[in-house]
Amino acid sequence: MYRHLKGISCLPVVFFALSYLYASPAESARILGYFATPSKSHIIVHCALADALAHAGHDVTVIASGPNVRQQAQYRYIELEKMGAHPLMSTDMVNKRQPFWRRFGSLLVSIARSANETQQNMRVQEFLQQHGAGDIDLLLFGYFMNDFQLGLAGHFRCPIVLSFMIQPIYAVNRYVGNPSEPAYVPGIFGYLVQPMSFLGRVKNMIVALIEEHVVQPMLEYQTRKFYE
Ligand SMILES: *[C@@H]1O[C@H](CO)[C@@H](O)[C@H](O)[C@H]1NC(C)=O
Repeated sequence: MYRHLKGISCLPVVFFALSYLYASPAESARILGYFATPSKSHIIVHCALADALAHAGHDVTVIASGPNVRQQAQYRYIELEKMGAHPLMSTDMVNKRQPFWRRFGSLLVSIARSANETQQNMRVQEFLQQHGAGDIDLLLFGYFMNDFQLGLAGHFRCPIVLSFMIQPIYAVNRYVGNPSEPAYVPGIFGYLVQPMSFLGRVKNMIVALIEEHVVQPMLEYQTRKFYE
């Protein structure tokens, strides 16, 4: 009888010992979602991703160019005061009478201006001063031709993941050494889908050349301004 009771009293100890040995440890990362883009529709996609990570148990903080688009989200949101109007709404973007390169040029200017405005924001500057190496485990970066801000991963000395709404563009492929393979991978500017016909491939090849030799230098021109 006594032996029987003794067996019961040590059950919790056995239980805890076994759960310590067999339960898989849960790991939670400190993630910063940084979405400096003038496009609200992009922010909606990035914030959904950040929220899913927060739901999965990660410690997620979000900085974005505008008000929080997911009020019920589980991430921490750093609300920026005094953000300008979304310049993508400006008419020169939809003004089809202008040639593509001019519209694209003003798009790049808008993107760079908005990204810079977000980064210069007082609350973002405060956050960057208070958080450095070792404070963030992963930077979830909303990419939209705001290449100069990729350096934020260097500030936090952490890995970076790019969130983008479409397939990688030439600039991103180049960073990671990914060949663009225009012979069978439709580029973003050609509006083609797989499988491509022979003429489709020819068109895709031409568009890929334009992306490499016209779009990329334009992007680099805008990016370089932030290093001067
Ligand atoms: C970025 O913003 C700061 C502060 O508003 C400004 O001084 C700087 O010239 C801007 N950089 C570029 C390249 O426009």
